[in-house]
Formats: sequence, structure tokens, C-alpha cells
Amino acid sequence: MPELTGKVALITGGSTGIGLATAERFAREGAAVVIADVNDQAGEAALDKLRVLGSEARYVHTDVSKPEDCERMVAETVAALGRLDFAFNNAGISGSDQPLPTADYGLDLWHKVISINLSGVYYCLRAQIPAMLKNGSGAIVNTSSVAGQIAFPGTVGYTAAKHGVVGLTKVVAAEYSAQGIRCNAIGPGFIETPMSQNVLASEQAQQWVQAICPAARTGQPEEIANVVYWLCHPGSSYLTGAYLPVDGGLLA
Ligand code: NAI
Repeated sequence: MPELTGKVALITGGSTGIGLATAERFAREGAAVVIADVNDQAGEAALDKLRVLGSEARYVHTDVSKPEDCERMVAETVAALGRLDFAFNNAGISGSDQPLPTADYGLDLWHKVISINLSGVYYCLRAQIPAMLKNGSGAIVNTSSVAGQIAFPGTVGYTAAKHGVVGLTKVVAAEYSAQGIRCNAIGPGFIETPMSQNVLASEQAQQWVQAICPAARTGQPEEIANVVYWLCHPGSSYLTGAYLPVDGGLLA
């Protein structure tokens, strides 16, 4: 029997990219998977893929920048599938393909990026934790970034949000690990997804990544999904409150 049979995983930003690859990984391991996203069309296509893998998969339209959507996302998950075991809080936006110095960043862009990439994770956490407390166990993984550890000039909102995600992760781990809920953050490097395709498209960008990244290449979404799966697996039972880089050695 697959390892996660009977378990329920909730993945925000699961319609495409890293979230979709992770949804597929959980489905292959036998979990029921709920995708929560604003991209309904891609979400429906993702559902088809998960069902082919044998998962009892659902899609819940969710804008993580709206607290009421996050509450409904968890309520619908528990109503449909009975429980919540794993949460991957991964929905995010880059905000802008162009680097914008802090003084030029713009208030609208700042509020948008913070409301999705930082407040969105908090709204998810405050809805998910009570459901996990009912089980007496749970594993949460939040998507930060290498930008959660170092500064990328021209990305003040994104970098502030991703640093904030690391802080949220540590507080939740400190508060709830004794009650069986582990909480960790991952820090992807340059991963080939719809979000990064414009930035990584040029030969020049690929050469830059090869030069600064010890692995000398970009990463694939599946290489993140494998780590998220392990962070939810009992094999990482004593790991909580950590920031785990998954970046080909970029921060080394
Ligand atoms: P992606 O664009 O393929 O996936 C992001 C998903 O989030 C999309 O399905 C999108 O519809 C969804 N989303 C956007 N706004 C939303 C909202 N308000 N509510 C719910 N869903 C929303 O990009 P990718 O790369 O898979 O991104 C996933 C996460 O990984 C993001 O948090 C991103 O910041 C992070 N990340 C990505 C890196 C990369 O190189 N691709 C590097 C470091 C971090």
C-alpha cells in the first residue's frame, strides 16, 4: 500500500509549477490532495492528472490574500475528506519581472506582494492549525525562497515577504511542535516554472545561473516536491522550525 494512504494534503498554488509537482508527488504516495488556487482552468487540468494517479483529488478556488477564502479552503477540505494532515503553503507571485529599486517599487506592488506572499501564508496557517490540532498531528511546509535569506536588489516586497515566511515558520514551530504539528520552510533557488520562465528564458540568464550556482543549473519542480514530501513524512519527525535551502548550493 502507498505510504500516505488515508492522509489528506492541502496545497496552495497547486495549479502549476512547484505546487503541481508536489500535488502529483503526494498523489503518487496515495494521499488525497486538495489544490487551492486562483487559476481555476489550470487547477481543473491538474485535477485530471491527480485522478489518473488514483488520488481522491479536489480543487477549491482560493485567493490566499483573503482570510475568508483560506477559512473556506480548510472547511471544505475537512468536510469533503474528513481531516487535514499536510499543508503546503506555496502560492506566490513574483510581483514584477523587472527589478525595481526600493524607492521606485510602488505602494500598490508592495501591498499586493505582501498580501499574497506573506499575509497569505499567515491566513492559511491560522485556518489550518486548528484542524491539525484536532488530529493531534500535522506537518506544514511554507515556501520561502533564497530571497528569504539574502537580498536580491530590486525585489524589496518579495524579499521582505520571503524573509517573513521564515519568521512565521519558526513561531509556529515554537508554539505547536509539542502538540504534534511540525512546521518548516523551504528555500527554492532558480526553479523552472511558469513564474520564472521569463526571467530564466535568455541564454544570458542561464549562463548567470550556471556561474553563481554550484550545481551549475536551474532546478526542476520535482526536485522541490521530493523535499516537501520528505518534510511531511515521518522520516523527518524531529525536524521543525527549519529553513531548508533547495537551491543547488546557491547559498553555500
Ligand atoms: P507558479 O507561478 O507556477 O505557481 C504559483 C501558483 O500560485 C500559481 O498556480 C498561481 O495561480 C498561484 N497563485 C498566485 N496568486 C495566488 C493567490 N492570491 N491565491 C492562490 N493562489 C495564487 O510559480 P512557482 O515557481 O511554482 O511558485 C511557487 C512558489 O515558489 C511561490 O511562492 C514562489 O515565490 C516560490 N519560489 C519560486 C522560485 C522559482 O524559481 N520558480 C524560487 C523561489 C521561490
